[in-house]
Amino acid sequence: MARKKIALIGAGNIGGTLAHLIGLKELGDVVMFDVFGGVAAGKALDIMQSSPVDGFDSHMTGGSDYAAIAGADVVIVTAGFPRMPGMSRDDLLTKNAGVMGQVAEGIKQHAPDAFVICITNPLDVMVWALQQKSGLPANKVVGMAGVLDSARFRTFLAEEFKVSVEDVTAFVLGGHGDTMVPLTRYSTVAGIPVPDLIKMGWTTQERIDAIVNRTANGGGEIVKLLEKGSAFYAPAASAVAMAESYLKDKKRVLPCAVMLNGEYGMNDFYVGVPVVIGAGGVEKIVEVEFTGDEKAAFDKSCDAVKKLVSDFKALGV
Ligand code: APR
Repeated sequence: MARKKIALIGAGNIGGTLAHLIGLKELGDVVMFDVFGGVAAGKALDIMQSSPVDGFDSHMTGGSDYAAIAGADVVIVTAGFPRMPGMSRDDLLTKNAGVMGQVAEGIKQHAPDAFVICITNPLDVMVWALQQKSGLPANKVVGMAGVLDSARFRTFLAEEFKVSVEDVTAFVLGGHGDTMVPLTRYSTVAGIPVPDLIKMGWTTQERIDAIVNRTANGGGEIVKLLEKGSAFYAPAASAVAMAESYLKDKKRVLPCAVMLNGEYGMNDFYVGVPVVIGAGGVEKIVEVEFTGDEKAAFDKSCDAVKKLVSDFKALGV
């Protein structure tokens, strides 16, 4: 069987990390595209030269010709600009709106059958724009945010409970931003929900509230520390988990930004909800019951995304 082909649009910090992880996991061959073709080609060559040392077979190339992505099974989009200190993800809207149009055209022309994962921020509106402009089916165009947000939540919960990250599950919904909705009721340590762990005296509500707040601002915390650019290791790992579930038909249940068509009472925009990712792309959208507070938080998050979509439309790009 021929190797799978994975195209990376954007060969910056996340793009380079994606290529490295894809190689280490032997998910397939990699084509990197960037407006700076030399950067894409240089990173591809550098990572490929690590393959004899690490023992993986993956052919990697890079450049600035969209024709090279032809026939890709998966396309992961990071093209655009990252945040700098003091910027919110939403501040990137104008800068990255034009980029999405070019990327959508490239994918439509050369890889219309691919499963497309968008990472560029502001995520929920950028993935919507990518789907609308490329015309690809909505079940094949998804946004990476929830896997990252829940990974952050899991990291902090594991630290709090002093247990392995492997035994912590977390449930995060809504838009990728300050309004994201971490559902503690569905977040567990080895199946025991967080509210029960509070009752058991393992932690306190105040400490969980602080963790929820840190999770919602997890990206900003890193932007502030890095001083130039934004997080890239965990975002790349999260997108690779989504790509792997598609390529291997694993049918993992992952929180992803997807187009809602009536689910959760919402229509025609992208927001983060749990979905099953398999060979058919988004195979199922999982609808959970909300409490009144959870519904209010989810609606608020959806309103923030809808506002960004209308701001995007007003740009007329
Ligand atoms: N087409 C292709 N590549 C582009 C384009 C374009 N029109 N415009 C910019 N790029 C490239 C840049 O040349 C750069 O190499 O996108 C790459 C972005 O890389 P970084 O600046 O290192 O940003 P990164 O940290 O990878 O984040 C990319 O993901 O998480 C989001 O907020 C983040 O929107 C940002 C994106």
